[in-house]
Amino acid sequence: MTFWRNKTVLVAGGAGFIGCHLVQELLRAGGKVHVVDNFSTGRAGPLKALGQDNLTVEQLDISRPAILPQADIVFNLASPASPIHYQSDPIQTWKTNILGTLQLFEHAHACNATLVQASTSEVYGDPLSHPQKETDWGHVNPVGPRACYDESKRAAETLLMDAARTSDADVRIARIFNTYGPGMTTSDGRAIPKFVAQAKAGDALTVHGDGTQTRSFCYVSDTVDGLLHLGSLPVAKGEIFNIGNPVENTILDIARHVIAIFGDGNDIVFEDRPVDDLQRRRPDIKKAETLLQWTPKVTLKEGLMTLSESQRQGKTKATRTHTSNAK
Ligand SMILES: NC(=O)c1ccc[n+]([C@@H]2O[C@H](COP(=O)([O-])OP(=O)(O)OC[C@H]3O[C@@H](n4cnc5c(N)ncnc54)[C@H](O)[C@@H]3O)[C@@H](O)[C@H]2O)c1
Repeated sequence: MTFWRNKTVLVAGGAGFIGCHLVQELLRAGGKVHVVDNFSTGRAGPLKALGQDNLTVEQLDISRPAILPQADIVFNLASPASPIHYQSDPIQTWKTNILGTLQLFEHAHACNATLVQASTSEVYGDPLSHPQKETDWGHVNPVGPRACYDESKRAAETLLMDAARTSDADVRIARIFNTYGPGMTTSDGRAIPKFVAQAKAGDALTVHGDGTQTRSFCYVSDTVDGLLHLGSLPVAKGEIFNIGNPVENTILDIARHVIAIFGDGNDIVFEDRPVDDLQRRRPDIKKAETLLQWTPKVTLKEGLMTLSESQRQGKTKATRTHTSNAK
């Protein structure tokens, strides 16, 4: 994409899972990238491995007043994303998503920069309509254990849409749906890396509830491609877009796919579902397809294969399942 050549891009949260992939693509496209990150869940190592002159990395907490580098485009990805992380310090999650987003917005506006906000499909909560459209209002428990994340992301959207309505600020919002790919940590409880780690270790895969709840998983290169389209196209100004893969799977099917690729007939065991776990999730992406000319390309099977070439060979045994613990 020629748009990014010689652009100065600030990526808050650039040391995280999606951030690191985004930074890599921005550098490939000829951008000059500044990362700010407090390294609460991100790591400096993968960024250092990119080893580029056009990359600076600064340790900084966006929820505290800071002097931020000038930029043409600002991506705000700074936020814990897994329930384990965002619930471990819910007040800090609030501060990051509210005070941090406010600071990044004010900075972007002062620089005349475009701000791309990484929001989340969690703004839809346990949705009442299916698939989820950008016009849906969501169905969120405002006082449950997930609310520190869901409601602070919703409040950040409120702030940015108010800014778009009342000023000439160029803000764009990506409602990112579940994303997976290389570089995810296996210990933060997110389904795919957890399943892959369990399958590789020869352990039983732990599925919440009876596994009939659905998710739509998007491969990280597709999510990053969506963010790059969102940041570069004039039609996206002041708009909200679902960025996700509309192919819906049950969690049980995903566990079975993972076993077929990485495992060796591993068992599946069933555990209690977390409080306020949602039943169905699938993005309606017509708006992104039409206005951003973006559509995800990587199938679940292709994406899972990339998580380990070596481990997948010769692992095709059928899956056995336990149902004794099913809730
Ligand atoms: N991965 C997904 O499936 C998914 C889905 C929906 C939305 N998102 C959103 O995308 C963004 C990135 O998600 P991810 O999966 O890469 O998460 P991640 O936890 O891997 O990355 C988040 C990054 O933000 C940094 N960070 C957190 N608080 C900060 C603060 N106060 N100041 C500076 N840096 C801070 C972390 O250290 C980390 O590097 C998040 O905003 C998340 O809400 C992700």
